[in-house]
Amino acid sequence: MKLLLALCAVLLGSWRVNASTGPIITTDPMEVVNQTSAVLSCNLTGSVHPIKGSHWTFDGKVIEDSKSASESPYTILRLEKITYHKGGKYECVFETEPPVQKTIEVKTDPHVSASKHSEHGNENDKVVLTCTSNSNPKPKDWTWQKKDGNQLEITNGTTKYEIKSTPEKSLLTIHSLSIEEDAGVYICMGSNDYGTKQDEIHLRVRSRLAALWPFLGIVAEVIILVTIIFIYEKRRKPDEINDDDDSGAAPLKSNSNANHKDKCVRQRNSN
Ligand SMILES: *[C@@H]1O[C@H](CO)[C@@H](O)[C@H](O)[C@H]1NC(C)=O
Ligand SMILES: *[C@@H]1O[C@H](CO)[C@@H](O)[C@H](O)[C@H]1NC(C)=O
Ligand SMILES: *[C@@H]1O[C@H](CO)[C@@H](O)[C@H](O)[C@H]1NC(C)=O
Repeated sequence: MKLLLALCAVLLGSWRVNASTGPIITTDPMEVVNQTSAVLSCNLTGSVHPIKGSHWTFDGKVIEDSKSASESPYTILRLEKITYHKGGKYECVFETEPPVQKTIEVKTDPHVSASKHSEHGNENDKVVLTCTSNSNPKPKDWTWQKKDGNQLEITNGTTKYEIKSTPEKSLLTIHSLSIEEDAGVYICMGSNDYGTKQDEIHLRVRSRLAALWPFLGIVAEVIILVTIIFIYEKRRKPDEINDDDDSGAAPLKSNSNANHKDKCVRQRNSN
């Protein structure tokens, strides 16, 4: 029995040794959190295959100037001025047969941006304000405030306000807009574990009448035009009759003169 156990121990031990001789990449650091710069490193050990080179990828895309033909089992990537643009998944890839890789995640405070910084809606209508994020990680919590002297937190699910949020974006719907109460500056805020960011949207509310102005303008124009034409026509009519008399009378007179002359001639001839 003791012998069997000893045998098992030896077998297990050798299996463990075999397992640990497979290729292993040790990363330093394991992840980058809320830092402005970092040096990512990967150290490949236990690879029995030759290394033909290495490179890094960022969110699945090869970083061109990280490509190296070095046979070194060690590679680094320097990151400077880290903002949300540089947050994501970095992967070091050693070109062996097959390739081996390991991921280092870079996490930053959130990025929050209003889709439009200026929005407008019509009185009594509703309007949807939108903020989006593309940081890593995305906000866990979205909140909305209205700047009204001080900042008032907007409560979801009232008859006035409705907030719909996913990690990527948050939508604030404001129902039955009122010029006095709803026009103003709205703030969307997104938070993850490393901070909070915000952006502003300026909302203008137009009166119903204002929305009708272009239409009323056209109607007014048509009315004025019709009136002008009407008045013009009315004033023109008596003149036209006189004109007709003048122009009609002239040929008649000449005709009658001609007739008269003809008569005279005829009369002379007959005499
Ligand atoms: C890589 O890992 C090996 C084994 O853990 C260690 O001896 C070596 O110093 C490391 N290389 C670097 C550059 O950190
Ligand atoms: C707000 O309330 C609506 C319905 O009342 C719900 O569907 C939505 O998930 C809520 N949004 C948030 C951010 O809690
Ligand atoms: C992240 O870094 C900023 C400044 O670099 C700091 O003010 C903030 O407290 C940090 N947040 C966390 C959660 O460590």
